Amino acid sequence: MILVVGGAGYIGSHFVEELIYEKEVIVLDNLSTGHRQFVHEKAQFIEGNLGDEQLLHNIFRNYKIDAVVHFAASSLVGESIVNPLKYYENNVNATFFLLKTMLSYGVKKFIFSSTAATYGIPSVDIIKEDAPTNPINPYGKSKLIIEWMLDDFAKSYNLDYVILRYFNAAGAHINGRIGENHTPETHLLPLILEHFLGTRDSISVFGSDYPTKDGTCIRDYVHVTDLAKAHLLSLHALLENKLNREVFNLGNGSGYSVMEVISTCERVVQKKAIIQIEERRAGDPAKLVASSDKIMKLLGWRPEHDILSIIETAWKWHSSRT
Ligand code: UFG
Repeated sequence: MILVVGGAGYIGSHFVEELIYEKEVIVLDNLSTGHRQFVHEKAQFIEGNLGDEQLLHNIFRNYKIDAVVHFAASSLVGESIVNPLKYYENNVNATFFLLKTMLSYGVKKFIFSSTAATYGIPSVDIIKEDAPTNPINPYGKSKLIIEWMLDDFAKSYNLDYVILRYFNAAGAHINGRIGENHTPETHLLPLILEHFLGTRDSISVFGSDYPTKDGTCIRDYVHVTDLAKAHLLSLHALLENKLNREVFNLGNGSGYSVMEVISTCERVVQKKAIIQIEERRAGDPAKLVASSDKIMKLLGWRPEHDILSIIETAWKWHSSRT
């Protein structure tokens, strides 16, 4: 049985959608940002917090958990600068309790959602896993601290882990049942699509003076189902003892500027966007593009969706909800 923490959230629910066909699944989620209706009907659902020690003990005592896949986190860069306490509590503390409890029950396989934000402002064009980690905001720091914790626990307690550093997760499941829905929404793609649906008057572009081709930030957008599949491959490899203590980047390997994302959306939706150029947003590096060669080589991962398909699936989901 696999415990998926945060399985009602955006990326966690897409992973369960893949996993449910091969394993029994328990989803633990406090629904602070996740959605009850995102939990797959075949998964068991437990509503609760990682800080609830009794609940965690009950789960590990009552179920035979083979591995834990941990998606639950606070994950907004801007919010982490305003309220770092929340990030050290919800990310570092909560994960510490989860690891401590699972280890005390002899559960030793762990997959962790990390982020490109651990790299900070990279000095290379395409980021490999061995690039220096210098996070520039509390969100990235909280994730890197957990990575260090995993490494120490692996050395001392034989924890087996895979860390997946996501670049910009985007898109929606092709079945149209689940997609990206945050409140408040801060992510670029859903904000653009909400503008086209008429719920926002314009799109803000944060900064037009970055050292990039058109002055706007460049990101590597990767489809959420491709991320889910990378988790599945990592889980197989961990359970079959084929790898351990690995860190993998997950991105498509191509960068798109904010203006390019907007113009591709205009093409898909066949409408013209109203754009407002604003100040830079704190904590945003100019360019983040992944090399995912390592997971391609070691696990045979291949992202199937390009930027167009990411936007098309996201648009299908967003437009069907109104
Ligand atoms: N942006 C705008 N206008 C908006 C919203 C975003 O111009 O209204 C820009 C941002 O400045 C950024 C790009 O669009 O350049 C993408 O922004 P998102 O908020 O969609 O995503 P981020 O790149 O900030 O966040 C992602 C992940 C985080 C991760 C971070 C690393 O969601 O988990 O990359 O910097 F930490």
